[in-house]
Amino acid sequence: MSKTIAGFSKLSKSEKIDWIVKTYFSNTENAKTIIRQYWNTNQKLQQLHDEFIENTITNYYLPFGVAPNFLINGKHYTVPMAIEESSVVAAASKAAKFWLDRGGFKAEVLATTKIGQVHFMFFGDFETLKAFFDFVKPLLITDCKDITRNMERRGGGILDIELINKTDAIPNYYQLHATFETLDAMGANFINSCLEQFAKTLKEQAAIYDGFSDEERAIDVVMSILSNYVPDCLVRVSVSCSVEELSEITDVSGQAFAEKFVQAVKIAEAEPYRAVTHNKGIMNGVDAVVLATGNDFRAIEAGVHAFAARDGQYRSLSHAKIEDDTFTFWMDIPLALGTVGGLTGLHPLVKLALELLGHPSARELMQIIAAAGLAQNFAALKSLTTTGIQQGHMKMHLLNILNQFEATSEEKTKLISQFQDDTVTHSAVVDALNKLRIKA
Ligand code: MEV
Repeated sequence: MSKTIAGFSKLSKSEKIDWIVKTYFSNTENAKTIIRQYWNTNQKLQQLHDEFIENTITNYYLPFGVAPNFLINGKHYTVPMAIEESSVVAAASKAAKFWLDRGGFKAEVLATTKIGQVHFMFFGDFETLKAFFDFVKPLLITDCKDITRNMERRGGGILDIELINKTDAIPNYYQLHATFETLDAMGANFINSCLEQFAKTLKEQAAIYDGFSDEERAIDVVMSILSNYVPDCLVRVSVSCSVEELSEITDVSGQAFAEKFVQAVKIAEAEPYRAVTHNKGIMNGVDAVVLATGNDFRAIEAGVHAFAARDGQYRSLSHAKIEDDTFTFWMDIPLALGTVGGLTGLHPLVKLALELLGHPSARELMQIIAAAGLAQNFAALKSLTTTGIQQGHMKMHLLNILNQFEATSEEKTKLISQFQDDTVTHSAVVDALNKLRIKA
């Protein structure tokens, strides 16, 4: 049977499912049951989800949890997190609770500028292009007035447009490099609309510009698109306490704990293999809140990792130091977020998440998400430099193993209690479950 199909998107939802199950599954009824059991009985809600993307056949659930006790700039938050990894919410909550009694997280938005570029080819002299750019720049901005009016009324808009000569990298390649302030919107649609208008004006004006030869007139726009690299949309977050106070979370002295912690961070600053995993731990916290608040986690991921490699080597985003008996742990992280537009006004759970956070501005959400990332990183490094990661991780994973073997509630209660003290490994849990079942 052919495994390809023409006109799939035109089929109804049930026709799509019929084709998929008969083409790819031996147990068609089982496949259909799994697909259907995630449908929402609320037709309106289901239709909303169906219409987010093309070819929706069902919904993909992730747990939506909350991490309470975050204190950020003196304000309390319970932070919503959408994530499948067992230990993340627990770790964030634990770190938040620890810092709650030590002044909480201090966060500061350093800048909120976003970037977009029109990439084009020009066949002529750069000085001539520069003269044309000086002439056309005001027109580029005025031709965007219909797009920028509302954003400008709120205090945002186009900040600047520069002409960049990239011919060292690729012959005849130039850019319009534009900077934007998009306030509470992530701004992708706004920026891309402006850029496409820049490209149109650029071509139209080049076609009638007196100073160009015919060859120069033929500006070839390759593409117009925002950049997800946002080093100037940056937030700084930190925690600090006396070294002494750190003894409360470990068996060793606060000084010994702090020194090892700082050493672990230095390793991640210097060693790319470690830095990637270190930053992955930060992104456990960041992505979970980004997702819960309806933001684009792929954009955030791409921008954050590019930032982590900005000096040519991939490094830790976070830093730590001991100075005058004070332990300080901090990071700068680029986060281009929106709290209006996109999913934020559409997805009921996203709306709920934003209400839970007190309807934050994009700047406030940058601070909250950075704090969630730093909390996660603190929890991971604390485990790594003391007990090792597996103890806590496997404790949280215990339920996954039990669910995999369809443990009953009674079996779960017994084994959770047993593994309070025993080390959780996959085989130890399976053995214990089998023993229980033999006894019964
Ligand atoms: C696991 O999801 C994240 C960690 O590996 C992060 C780290 O190693 O710092 C624990």
